[in-house]
Amino acid sequence: MQLINVRDYEEQALATLDLPTRDYYRSGSEDERTLHANRAAYDQVRLRPRALVDVSACDLRTTVLGTPVAMPILVAPTAYHCLAHPEGECATVQGVGAAGTLMGVSTLGTRSLEEVAAAASGPLWFQLYVYKDRRVSEGLIRRAEAAGYRALVLTVDTPRLGQRERDLRNGFGLPAHLHQANFQDSSETPVHIQEQGLSGLAVHASAMFDTALTWEALSWLRSVTQLPIIVKGLMTAEDAALAVAHGAAGIIVSNHGGRQLDGAIATLEALPEVVAAVNGACEVYVDGGAQRGTDILKALALGARAVLVGRPILWGLAVNGAAGVTHVLTILRDELERAMALSGRPTLDSIDRTLVKVPRDW
Ligand code: LAC
Repeated sequence: MQLINVRDYEEQALATLDLPTRDYYRSGSEDERTLHANRAAYDQVRLRPRALVDVSACDLRTTVLGTPVAMPILVAPTAYHCLAHPEGECATVQGVGAAGTLMGVSTLGTRSLEEVAAAASGPLWFQLYVYKDRRVSEGLIRRAEAAGYRALVLTVDTPRLGQRERDLRNGFGLPAHLHQANFQDSSETPVHIQEQGLSGLAVHASAMFDTALTWEALSWLRSVTQLPIIVKGLMTAEDAALAVAHGAAGIIVSNHGGRQLDGAIATLEALPEVVAAVNGACEVYVDGGAQRGTDILKALALGARAVLVGRPILWGLAVNGAAGVTHVLTILRDELERAMALSGRPTLDSIDRTLVKVPRDW
């Protein structure tokens, strides 16, 4: 099969992965309405191309929190890459570095944050959950600082795990030969439970994640580290204003790939109100559902500094390891460049709200 676009990669990956892994990666929660809404929102926005603009050279380079990247496309943190490829996150990070962009590395990696940093050639952010025992989070922060991570991405939409029904049916748990490499795990931790009707990950999350988390956590984080904090999982203007007030350096508009609150609005739909509320006080990024360069262009037009992609990276990894990851990012980059040329927007600065038509009630 020729691999020309991200959907080709998805199809090929789904054909090779085992059922529990395939379902874990692709599923949303409950009826998967938000999972589908994320994609559908991109279809609801249309482009207003300008003509007779010199597009002989399109420039995609940008910075995120001052870090240069080759394109406004970043890699979203996702868990358990060894399910897709034996080298796991180490292969992913090599592929991302070769494409010249930045990777968000999940706390729930199957390679340790130090191993990933050692394999990296590009910049890294470290995704963090706040655990009931804050010493666990603080230990991870110290290690991320020592390993050279540039920012912390605090996930705030997971006081508990959304109900992913496919995982329950499959009895999804981490196979015994894989480990949450950032922790001293044996093969008998809750995350390894493989029992129909249970998700090992959900059991792990309810045992470990702090369900009492409030905005105070952001102040606490800022008191224990100098690293910039990016808040991931905000969907409203109200929360965006609070994030700015609590010193966030960045916001990722995210509904966790439709895996948490089912029925939540699409991230693209949430983006304009967040951008308006932030009003330039910090950088705003978005994730969820982007799988074409034109999708990325639409998000940039609605005010995102960059777009993060999660599942497409896993498809690339599953199909062809590091090279697959690089190819997926190159496809998206080339599609974005083409879309910029065809819409008469050769620079990122020239991409603005006038490029898009959005549904009236956004
Ligand atoms: C998930 C968590 C681990 O979505 O981020 O599966």
